[in-house]
Amino acid sequence: MAQQEVLLKVENVKKHFNVGGGTLKAVDGLSFDLYKGETLGLVGESGCGKSTAGRAVLRLYEPTEGKVTFDGVDVYSLPKKKLKELRKQMQIVFQDPYASLNPRMTVEDIIGEALDIHKLAKGPARHKRIVELLNLVGLSEEHASRFPHEFSGGQRQRVGIARALAVEPKFIVCDEPISALDVSIQAQVVNLLKQLQNEMGLTYLFIAHDLSMVKYISDRILVMYLGQMMELAESEELNDNPLHPYTQFLLSAVPIPDPGVEKNRDRIRVEGEIPSPIDPPNLCPFCTRCPKVHDKCKQSRPEWKEVKPNHYIACHLFD
Ligand SMILES: Nc1ncnc2c1ncn2[C@@H]1O[C@H](COP(=O)(O)OP(=O)(O)OP(=O)(O)O)[C@@H](O)[C@H]1O
Ligand SMILES: [Mg+2]
Repeated sequence: MAQQEVLLKVENVKKHFNVGGGTLKAVDGLSFDLYKGETLGLVGESGCGKSTAGRAVLRLYEPTEGKVTFDGVDVYSLPKKKLKELRKQMQIVFQDPYASLNPRMTVEDIIGEALDIHKLAKGPARHKRIVELLNLVGLSEEHASRFPHEFSGGQRQRVGIARALAVEPKFIVCDEPISALDVSIQAQVVNLLKQLQNEMGLTYLFIAHDLSMVKYISDRILVMYLGQMMELAESEELNDNPLHPYTQFLLSAVPIPDPGVEKNRDRIRVEGEIPSPIDPPNLCPFCTRCPKVHDKCKQSRPEWKEVKPNHYIACHLFD
């Protein structure tokens, strides 16, 4: 387990969007601490607000409400110029490396741009640093003059990681960095991220929509649903002892590689569509699909509480 020194403190962060039909509550009250050197997995189905949460934490979106403290600095009240400096320490790696890398720029320019923005290196030192970064992510000097389309998906994601590392960040939001990759390549990129974390003491918020890979890289896992926190626990505890019916459903959807086990196990059936995040009623967001729903769930929103040491949940079954 990572050191218990808090690097990032997130308190009741909300990000609402005004859309035609009302208020879309993409993130509606997120609170967690991230310890130095740890990986927190952020998991939930598509549209539950993971990317919005990642961006709000980095203030790539202006928040609707809440507070984020990074290494003692109040991120949301920083003036723009100071925020730019802080960006050196907080980076993001995106899901689709093809869409997030400019196709008309060489790898040298893509990584160099990050160095230029923060005036980190010029001339020969700049090239030397770019080669260093390429080596760090398992690429070599000859890749510097190439364009994004000349790479495979996994290699492109390595370029995206090198770009994030260029400014020597302490914290990286990894927004589904492996979801667009072949399964065989996913493990390689996860291993690279782990190795870099060990070497550089990095802290990650690792976003994914299913639990299969997240459990290998995360120290703790936070499960989100419709902009809200459902469950938070250490990775092993969450996998062995999921308490929230939504987490149980997510875990039952993870395929098991052994076909014998896969065929014989029970999958939890969850009926119904995910409700709209626009003007949601103030009750348990999962109540429309939950197999264990009871009256209380349709009357009020469950409180966030610690039900075992370091195991938190928002569910009326644990009132
Ligand atoms: N700029 C925006 N304006 C309006 N609504 C938005 C905006 N960005 C996101 N949303 C909405 O907020 C909700 C959460 O979106 P978000 O992209 O954060 O989900 P996600 O969990 O990252 O999904 P995915 O797994 O598909 O990436 C969705 O309903 C989405 O339509
Ligand atoms: Mg997303």
